[in-house]
Amino acid sequence: MQLIDSHAHLDFGQFDGDREAVIARARRAGLVAIVNVGADLASSRAAVALAEGYDFIYATVGVHPHDARTVTPDVLENLRALARHPTVVAVGEIGLDYYRDLSPRPVQRRAFREQLGLASELGLPVVIHSRDAHDDVLAILEAWEGNGVLHSYSAGLDLLDRVMRFGFYVGLSGPVTFPKADGLRAVAGAVPLDRLLVETDCPYLTPTPHRGERNEPAYVRYVVETVARSRWMEAEQVASATSDNARRLFGI
Ligand code: NI
Repeated sequence: MQLIDSHAHLDFGQFDGDREAVIARARRAGLVAIVNVGADLASSRAAVALAEGYDFIYATVGVHPHDARTVTPDVLENLRALARHPTVVAVGEIGLDYYRDLSPRPVQRRAFREQLGLASELGLPVVIHSRDAHDDVLAILEAWEGNGVLHSYSAGLDLLDRVMRFGFYVGLSGPVTFPKADGLRAVAGAVPLDRLLVETDCPYLTPTPHRGERNEPAYVRYVVETVARSRWMEAEQVASATSDNARRLFGI
């Protein structure tokens, strides 16, 4: 089975003790690519450094909405320079988070729009974080020309048609495996096969049966297996389609 984890945070401190072993397990588990996602300027730098060390790891650069207040002209300039590195395949993760509201909402919207502008300028797709902010996120993306993924999709079946109309991809992660997640499994069954990505968002969102432990890229197969059951398909087919989709979106 050929797998691509389209959203990982292997640069985070949770992996400091055994990062190489985690990456080796990912390779043995059939991972042919891992997209390691930046969350602020420092982690974007760390993502690029990590991607330089492994031929199957790619990086994204961007500032998460939690840290939107750190997005100054200087930080944007640094992201722009970093994004020219050949391992960088997208701008992200960027977006809006009205659940935790760690940066004021107008500041989040400004940082989001500025980083979308950066992606346009660089001709890169985007990795979007949207939590309790789907109306604003979708409205902003509908007015933007470009492609990307709504990572760890949580906007439900209701908004799926709208997302498909502007051509984005839907990223499904560990929560699709949780016992009570019938809504997410309905989404997994409904997304057109050529618009679907799988991801771990590790170290977070660990799928069943490892829930409660640290997540890692090798566990993306549990997401694939659940998605396959939701679609009455073979896991192999879902793995191969989601890998093709990730390659197409990120140009890997
Ligand atoms: Ni993430």
